[in-house]
Parts: sequence; C-alpha cells; structure tokens
Amino acid sequence: MTVHKQQNGGKMENLESLKNELVAQVQAAADIRQLEDVRVAVLGKKGRVTEMMKTLGTLSPEERKEAGRELNILKTEVETALEERKEALSAAELNAKLAQEKIDVTLPVRPENQGRIHPVSQIYEEVVAIFGQMGFEVAEGPDIEDDFHNFTALNLPPNHPARQMHDTFYLPKEANGSTDIDDSYIVRTHTSPVQIRTMEKQQPPIRVIAPGRTYRSDYDATHTPMFHQIEGLVIDTNITMAHLKGCLYNFIKAFFELDEIPVRYRPSFFPFTEPSAEMDIGCKKTKNELKIGAGTDWLEILGCGMVHPNVLRAGGIDPDKYQGFAFGLGLDRLAMLKYGIPDLRTFFESDVRWLKHYGFTPLDMASMTGGLSGNGGVR
Ligand code: PHE
Repeated sequence: MTVHKQQNGGKMENLESLKNELVAQVQAAADIRQLEDVRVAVLGKKGRVTEMMKTLGTLSPEERKEAGRELNILKTEVETALEERKEALSAAELNAKLAQEKIDVTLPVRPENQGRIHPVSQIYEEVVAIFGQMGFEVAEGPDIEDDFHNFTALNLPPNHPARQMHDTFYLPKEANGSTDIDDSYIVRTHTSPVQIRTMEKQQPPIRVIAPGRTYRSDYDATHTPMFHQIEGLVIDTNITMAHLKGCLYNFIKAFFELDEIPVRYRPSFFPFTEPSAEMDIGCKKTKNELKIGAGTDWLEILGCGMVHPNVLRAGGIDPDKYQGFAFGLGLDRLAMLKYGIPDLRTFFESDVRWLKHYGFTPLDMASMTGGLSGNGGVR
C-alpha cells in the first residue's frame, strides 16, 4: 500500500499513512458525538474514504482491482477502530453516569429537619412501647359505635344517670326503623367499648391496650370535641387489684422517665368497674410550672378498676371463673403534661408553626431500649 500516488496520477494518497491518520482521529474522539463526526468525515456520503472510492471508476480495470482491495482494507480497519472506540466510550459514559447517579441509601433523609411527628402520635408510640414490653397487644374498635357497645354492655343500661356525664354525639337514627336504643349509632365517648369487642372475639387470658379517637361535646382549654384515649384491659383467672396497681405504677414511671414517683388511688365510680379508682401522681404546682414526681400536690392521671361482673357477662366471659382490671387514660392530656403544652385546642388547629415547636423528629422513634422520648421534643 505504498505506491498509489504514482500509480493513479496522485489521486490516491499513501494509504498506510492515511490509515494511521484516520485511526489517530478515531482514537482522539473524546465522546460518542465527536466519534460520530469522525465517522461521517471519513465514511459518510462525502467522507474522505468514500470520495476515494468514487475515484476508482477512473482507473483501468487492473488498477481498480488492486486499489479497490486496498481501499476496502483501509475501510475495514477504520471501521474496526471506530467500533472499538465506540465501545470504550460507551463504557466510560455508562460508568460516569453510574457514578453520578450513585445514591447512598444509608444517608439520613434530607432535608432532615422538615417533617415533624405530632405530639399525640409521639405519646401514642411511647405508650404502646411501654405496654408492648409488658406483653400487651394493641386492639382496635370503630369510632362510630352502637349504643350497646359504648353504654349498655358496659353496665350503663338505657336511662342510667351516668350516661349524662358523657356529652354524647348521637348519629341520625338508622333507616331500618329499629326503635331498640342498643341499635342506635353514636361516635364513641370513650375507648371502653373496645373492652367488649375484645371479649367478644377472644377468651382470656386477655392483655390489650386500645388507643384511639373519642368524642364528646365539650370545648375549652382542656377539652376538645375529638380527643384521644388509651384503654387497658387485663383478664385472667387470678387477676387482683395488686396487679392493677403494679402495672400502672410501672407504666407511669416508664412514661415520665422517673425512677420514683408518688402515686395514690382515690375511690371513684365507673359503672363498668367495681371497685373503681382514680390514680393521682405527686407533683409540684406553681403559677407557671408543673413539676411531675416531687412536691406535695396531686394530679389526677387516669381512671381504673376491677372489671364489673356484668361487663364480663356482656362480653361472653364467665365472671365466676375470670376477673380482670381495666383502665382508661387521656392521651392528649399525657402529652400536655409530659411536654408542657398548655392548651389542648392548639393540638388540632393544624398550625405548622405549632407543630415545628412541639413536634418530634421522625427518626427519634420511641422505644424502651433506644430511649422513650428520644432526644426529646425539638424545641
Ligand atoms: N372510660 C372511662 C372514661 O372515659 C375511663 C375508664 C376506663 C375507667 C376503664 C375505668 C376503667 O372516663
């Protein structure tokens, strides 16, 4: 491939050096686009090699055969170089893209300080973590209840005076025309109907908590028409008031994250428990502050008692064989106490500034081993 210039009147270049030049161009292409430009300039319709191919027609048959063969070899060599370069560039481009798109899934979410957990959700998680470790399961019931589960089965028959304490929201009467008061719908006034629903589904031993929304027609700094409660129910063959006291004492210490906390039980009345009590915890009240766990003041924290035999019977459990205790506490109230939030109404105003102030970072999950309230509220 050296003497074409002379052979065909100088039209053919020295093919060997041309090949070197073209291959060098191919290899110098920095990306796929440049490489394509080189390909067009060499092998395209008006490319250098293509143009040379066109001149073959001017040669004598013999010269044409020889020159054509050599041009084909050149073409193949350039094509091979193009292909190799293309492969190398594609691989490099893919690697660069992969490197650029790499995500470290172990990095914290960003922007990390945006979202907040509502204090009620936080308290919910904390309470579930504590009772979960004591072996309780979470039970649920509907927000829209029938009168039977909310009242009658809980030993509040129709016209029982204690029904009046509940400021009940009644739903319109069912279209089925039933006049049986047990069939009428309300929004539940407490989580206690979940006691009945649990007993209906399951024989003892029972150990459940039932957190959820509850509704009463009431509105001031410590009452909202919708609020949250947590119900507790334990039933077995040998349950006594001592179990109730031990369980709630352990809960309250874990919840307020204190080693010691003064506790007292005051006799009280709930139709569904006998005897009934209210639990107070020791605290110190000053004008601007409430300090839990010390001082000479008392703060009511929950209602509780031994499950009334009528309630066990209504739930299909034999009261001569089984006893149990139950308790109910206000979740929102716990949040107010633990995190110093003065007005319950602000909980449900959906003010994002409030949530930023009182909310919790999502990564601080409440757990008994990792810390109940994590790093505390983000203040
Ligand atoms: N249901 C009661 C209330 O809403 C609380 C309670 C629950 C009391 C269970 C005793 C036992 O006030």
